[in-house]
Amino acid sequence: MKFWRSMGMVVPLFSKNIPAIKEFRHVSLRRRQFLGLAALGATGALVWQGRSLLQGPAPLPTTVSEIYRSEAGLLELTLEARYGDVILGGELAPRRMTYNGQIPGPRLEVKPGDRLIINFKNALDQPTNLHFHGLHLSPSGNQDNVFLHLNPGETFRYELQIHPQQRAGTYWYHPHHHGHAAEQLFQGLAGLIVVRGDLDDLPEIRAAQEEFFVLQDFALDGPGQGMMAAHMNLMMGREGSLITVNGLFHPEIAVTKDLVRLRLLNASPSRFYRLQLFGQRLTQIAGDNGAFSQPLERDELLLTPGQRAEVLIQAHGLPKTPIHLLSLPYQRAQMGMMGRQFSGITQAIADFTPKEVPFTPRRLPQDLIAVEPLPEPSRTRRFTLSHGMVPGQGMAFLINGEAYQDRPQTTVRLNEIEDWELVNLGTMDHPFHLHVNSFQVLSRNGVPEVPLVWADTVLVKVGETVKIRVAFRDFVGTTVYHCHILDHEDLGMMGQLEILPPA
Ligand code: C2O
Ligand code: CU
Ligand code: CU
Repeated sequence: MKFWRSMGMVVPLFSKNIPAIKEFRHVSLRRRQFLGLAALGATGALVWQGRSLLQGPAPLPTTVSEIYRSEAGLLELTLEARYGDVILGGELAPRRMTYNGQIPGPRLEVKPGDRLIINFKNALDQPTNLHFHGLHLSPSGNQDNVFLHLNPGETFRYELQIHPQQRAGTYWYHPHHHGHAAEQLFQGLAGLIVVRGDLDDLPEIRAAQEEFFVLQDFALDGPGQGMMAAHMNLMMGREGSLITVNGLFHPEIAVTKDLVRLRLLNASPSRFYRLQLFGQRLTQIAGDNGAFSQPLERDELLLTPGQRAEVLIQAHGLPKTPIHLLSLPYQRAQMGMMGRQFSGITQAIADFTPKEVPFTPRRLPQDLIAVEPLPEPSRTRRFTLSHGMVPGQGMAFLINGEAYQDRPQTTVRLNEIEDWELVNLGTMDHPFHLHVNSFQVLSRNGVPEVPLVWADTVLVKVGETVKIRVAFRDFVGTTVYHCHILDHEDLGMMGQLEILPPA
């Protein structure tokens, strides 16, 4: 076990008062088993993700995902959803669902106005499709069309026109075939789409060390087994006990610049990440749909499924020892015993280790990108979120008392502005997500939400009423809104939205 120690893997991960040792031992044991059993590479050398383990304390790779960047306004690539044996958190995970063999899938980087062409193939044995979460795209044809039903063996050419006014930010793609979405995400299908733009051009941001964290959780028992099948787990939304960052268990990030720009995506089907940088404050500069107008200091950051955030971390003043990024418990249901099982434990999910000392304190940018408030709405609608028993079907998750139907449940007009009141009448928290047009969160139980930000996914906690404002711009057609706990979405908590041409 010398290798792990020399690579910084077997280090005291938790301070005494953090009760997470049990979980850590569990996972690390599996890593050792994997090393013992399956780590001989083609040449007979001990390897891990292509790297010899005998090379000493070289930094571990911080992601396995390929990066594709647009050039001269175009990015074209081939993307195949296929089964693959991958290493997740240091353990061999057979027959997971991958994009091009990778978990997370390739990271795509584009600019506003670019064309993004994806020659997609479904090599799974079940239908799938692609959704481009957070992007302002047409919901029809070969763009952000979640009604496509791509059968096993089928190919499809997605041709996306990235909107010229698309806010620079962290977006992502994942499957959206109703009834299969949670399972396919849980098996690994997700990748980042980064839109580069004004925020990236601020000098302080440009000088920062940029890191991407795709947060995913997995069940260790293999597909179709164990907890995934548990009825209760589907009600709550499935969670796996292995938390990974870019497919890695507890990676160590070497801090080499004065400022780290950390961009996070929660790509888990159900798990909420309540994150804390051990003993440090976080400076959030962006949310789902690009920059805040000013940086926001926080002690912790809650990311529901689907949400993204960007934070800045000052290297100056960090201790020279590894700093843990902690995932803290979050109780997302009010159901006594049942809820408590799903509240999670405290564990470190990544470490930041300052490498180049001394660091210089950096002035953080004070003005980021302006967020203009949307004008007054022409109408207000109400959406209730609840669950109940449906005869012959069991438990269903409902919006306005109705499970998902293959017909428009809400009809709006292009260029109108509406306020939507999202009312949670159930016993579980629901992150509400809208496709195609992002929104601004106005208030929570009547209390104005500050600062004003652009979002596409907003948490509506048990008993809460959250008011959002949305402008339907540029695209007519049919799309969806839903709970981003994808088990809830698959079990009915989704509605069709039809955007009609102006009256
Ligand atoms: Cu990320 Cu409709 O979802
Ligand atoms: Cu989406
Ligand atoms: Cu939900």
